[in-house]
Amino acid sequence: MKNVISEKLSLLNQAHLLKHIKELGDNEQKKLINQLENLDFSVLDENVADEKRGVIEPLFATTLEEIEKNKERYREAGEAAIKAGKVGAVLLAGGQGSRLGFDKPKGMFDIGETKNLYIFECLINNLLDVVKQTGSWIPLFIMTSVQNDKDTRTFLEEHNYFGYSSDNVMFFVQEQLPTVDTNGRLMLADKGVVSTAPNGNGGWYASMIKSGMFKILKDNKIEWLNVFAVDNVLQRIADPCFIGAVIESGMESGSKVVAKADADERVGVMCLEDGRPSIVEYYEMTDEMRYSREADGKLSYNYGVILNYLFKIDNLNKLLNEKLPLHKAFKKVSYYDETIDAIVTPEEPNAYKYETLVLDMVKLQDSCLAYEVERSKEFAPVKNKTGVDSVDTARELLKLNGIEL
Ligand code: UTP
Repeated sequence: MKNVISEKLSLLNQAHLLKHIKELGDNEQKKLINQLENLDFSVLDENVADEKRGVIEPLFATTLEEIEKNKERYREAGEAAIKAGKVGAVLLAGGQGSRLGFDKPKGMFDIGETKNLYIFECLINNLLDVVKQTGSWIPLFIMTSVQNDKDTRTFLEEHNYFGYSSDNVMFFVQEQLPTVDTNGRLMLADKGVVSTAPNGNGGWYASMIKSGMFKILKDNKIEWLNVFAVDNVLQRIADPCFIGAVIESGMESGSKVVAKADADERVGVMCLEDGRPSIVEYYEMTDEMRYSREADGKLSYNYGVILNYLFKIDNLNKLLNEKLPLHKAFKKVSYYDETIDAIVTPEEPNAYKYETLVLDMVKLQDSCLAYEVERSKEFAPVKNKTGVDSVDTARELLKLNGIEL
């Protein structure tokens, strides 16, 4: 088997990955070969990285005013779906949170000031509001990564799942992709280990199914999954009004959105791309698109996504084999440096990580309801330590919403 791998690596110009194999013990050698056999080499395929965009047009949201008018009806429809056990929640917690610079899973970050209040705790408190409102537990699936799985499980168990029923918490681990240096070479994390990183948040459903969650979804007759990010401490999860609105609309999916703070806000916005729902990133917009306004004065591309989506499982199953585009990000990646026979942690970004993104799943849907929520009530992302979208801004917003820190 080693020869087959070695030939494959030579063909791909990656023979250096086996350079130190003879220095390893039997077990480590086997592990390395096994890792290489199962490695996804698609990151070396340059074509995957850039994606041509189609024709982009505005997509308008169900606005706060419209939602207010139909609130009761939406709420009832959503609560009925939750009570019938049709809704599950998926927490995407496999990210590395490098911008925050916290060396544990982001959910373990303590955002409290005078008491402990962990990010995971904030999210579970928000979900518990709906459990209390409906009298039903909502199955909570938590996606972790190889790197943070153990810490995440141990932490939540030690804290008694912050009052959530452990029977309704299921973990699964997302897949990895190799990291690539600036010369197009895959990297070694150690002499006998190829460097890999979590493959982005777009692979969540595939990873869920690979981890055997299909049976749980099927046995529990779950029809909808509300996917959300770990870092928005204010977000409403399994929000009955949102769920009800999507179900009533007859659409295949839904996305919570917030009106842009101003035309220049750096946020991906909902749009139509070749007639399908999609998300256009800030940097992909021309000035004309960015500043274009409708007759009512609102920006034509006004509704920013906040990584809170509702997907229909039937549809996700149909799309399971669809390939999502790979995006690459230049990041700091520790590596084995053979010249000093040691692992080096760089001060500056040195390599590419490849990721698929959940927002690219939206384009695979025939329809998506953009559902506006109030930014100050539902959007407090913790991306950085200070400045924009930071621990500081999230603390302010939590306080504004009456949450004691
Ligand atoms: P981000 O885009 O903020 O990435 O993730 P990140 O890795 O957490 O943070 P930075 O960029 O290194 O600072 C948005 C959401 O997607 C999840 C994150 O945990 C967060 O909830 N995510 C991201 C995954 O679950 N897996 C991934 O591979 C990447």
